[in-house]
Amino acid sequence: MSPEKRARALREAIERHNRLYYVEDAPQISDAEYDRLFQELQRLEEEHPALRTADSPTARVGGAPLPELQPVRHEIPMLSIRTETDTSDAGAVAFDNRMRRELGLERVQYAAEPKFDGLAVSLLYEGGRLERAATRGDGEVGEDVTHNVRTIRSVPLTLLARAPRRLEVRGEVYMDRRDFEKLNQRQQASGGKVFVNPRNAAAGAVRQLDPKLAAQRPLRFFAYGIGVTQGWQVPSTQSGVLDELERLGLPVSRERRVVEGAEGLIEYHRHMGERRRELPFDIDGVVYKVNSLEAQARLGFVAREPRWAVAHKYPAQEEMTEVLGIAVQVGRTGVLTPVAKLQPVFVGGVTVTNATLHNEDELRRKDVWVGDRVVVRRAGDVIPEIVGVSAPGPRRAQDRFEMPRTCPVCGSPTVRVEGEAATRCTGGLYCKAQRKQTLLHFAGRRAMDIEGLGEKVVDQLVEREIVANPADLYRLDAQTLSGLDRMGEKSAANLVESIGASRERTLPRFIYALGIPGVGEEVAKILARQFGSLEALMQADWAKAAQDKEAVRKENARRKKAGDPSLEVPFEGIGPELMESIQTFLHEPHNAQVIRRLLAEIRLSKPEPAGRAVEGKTFVLTGSLATMTRDEAQAALEQLGHKVASSVSRKTDYVVAGADAGSKLEKARELGVPVLDEKQLARLLGRI
Ligand code: IVH
Repeated sequence: MSPEKRARALREAIERHNRLYYVEDAPQISDAEYDRLFQELQRLEEEHPALRTADSPTARVGGAPLPELQPVRHEIPMLSIRTETDTSDAGAVAFDNRMRRELGLERVQYAAEPKFDGLAVSLLYEGGRLERAATRGDGEVGEDVTHNVRTIRSVPLTLLARAPRRLEVRGEVYMDRRDFEKLNQRQQASGGKVFVNPRNAAAGAVRQLDPKLAAQRPLRFFAYGIGVTQGWQVPSTQSGVLDELERLGLPVSRERRVVEGAEGLIEYHRHMGERRRELPFDIDGVVYKVNSLEAQARLGFVAREPRWAVAHKYPAQEEMTEVLGIAVQVGRTGVLTPVAKLQPVFVGGVTVTNATLHNEDELRRKDVWVGDRVVVRRAGDVIPEIVGVSAPGPRRAQDRFEMPRTCPVCGSPTVRVEGEAATRCTGGLYCKAQRKQTLLHFAGRRAMDIEGLGEKVVDQLVEREIVANPADLYRLDAQTLSGLDRMGEKSAANLVESIGASRERTLPRFIYALGIPGVGEEVAKILARQFGSLEALMQADWAKAAQDKEAVRKENARRKKAGDPSLEVPFEGIGPELMESIQTFLHEPHNAQVIRRLLAEIRLSKPEPAGRAVEGKTFVLTGSLATMTRDEAQAALEQLGHKVASSVSRKTDYVVAGADAGSKLEKARELGVPVLDEKQLARLLGRI
């Protein structure tokens, strides 16, 4: 093949793989293979400079830094969108009412799209080639950022088949959250600027003077509209325009929908609100656009905003506020956590007054001082955190945070183990904070599940020195409890009862409840399975366990080579450090004593089935099951202590309906008896 042909083939392949990776989200080759193609093309072009073209992927980063960005006048102004500030459904209803009234229509069709949180840019393609990219600027005049936008691999340098003579594509440059986090890690490691959020990082990169710097920023692009066009049969709807842009090879969001009426808008707003946290990028709302371009033209503009579009927001996930103080909390294992006390701020749907700073290193990295203005983020249900400082405060010497040398709760010295981020209180269970957290963890829903033993009760029990450790809980009586503040006789009796009920729990729950550092629910399950009893766990020979594990590992390596099936590795997921932590905890004399006392109070029961715990219920089976016979299902249910009856009555707790279920299913519906399908049954039996 001639070098010329080869160069062309490589160019096409590279751009195709860019598209597969960035636009279609369906890469076909590895990064290494991509790099090989790219390097081959670079080499060819170096050897044969005449083969270089402006639209070669190697020319994405080219040229020297610019002295300044040049102004670009938009032929058609780049407008902004009216924002509907009412984040409830009413926002969508109001827009739909207005559109129906102004268009004189019963029902209006809309294009619904995510509102990307980045920077608006205009891309001008002439004869299918990217000629110029500009920022929005003030809407009339923007800045020429062609050199930087060319480095964005999801922006095609040439359009696919039958490109219009002239086409201005408008859209948003943004950054994926994960790319943003990685970028910030790199920036931090190299002592560079750490960005507050993906939008700022993207906006800064687009307006860089040096394209080499922009090329190092992981930018992406989504098209959402058009500007000038020539020699193009413009589709008649917004959704049609986006479909065409997609066909030309431009990245268009898959999350877009065509909907009708207010219900359609509301449903989309809700749906995207749920999708929001799963999306790889930030959105701060959705955009509704009247779908018909002809109707859009009739509606026209007010000031700088089209009448036919609206942005319907979600409650903000980030807000700015001031740090009033930095307190220190002591956790169950004695770890000291710095927590910023904030000027209350409404973010992510709740009022936030505290935000964690995780540990000393994190606090130093973000360089947060009392009096600073900071960006607080609360996304989904995660605990609020400080993203970074937006404006430093006066920063007097006393505003700088120092990790306390003594525990703020018990006064014991604190230590920071070398190589660890955590600072700990050395007070152990002498420390009331650790005692409280230990009790709360022990009583937690996923541990011993003691209803009614919440923070307020635990606080008093520890402060008044009624309870010092979990074993003491089983000595409490209603009289003692009713002496606590805000505890009536009835609640005291209820609490005694729920403590009583917790005397019977499974081994994995019990192990988890002990609060051994590093032992979460999963590890607790492994330990329970491996040892079968707490006594065995207490007497474990960890040195031998480590040897066994190593031996099976070796044996498996041999088997793998020989193509034989491998053995189950004992203690999988439990490394030497964790083994040591478990051993130290269990053998610490005070802990050992508490565990012995607990074992005298508690009866460890058989593991409960995975999923929802249902005990001693009456089931009726009907229809045929695909994965088991009815007899098998009956045996499995009975093994768990349930009854299986033959006819449905008011006493039936559940009906399990397989395929072709008949009159029993009807009866269940009539009586309002809950009906389970096969999958739910399998879950109940702990099979899936
Ligand atoms: S359409 C005439 N669609 O939001 C309407 N804009 O305040 C022009 N944006 O500057 C914009 N996602 O940067 C449109 N799906 C979307 C959008 C979107 C984000 C941005 C855009 C614009 C700003 C409007």
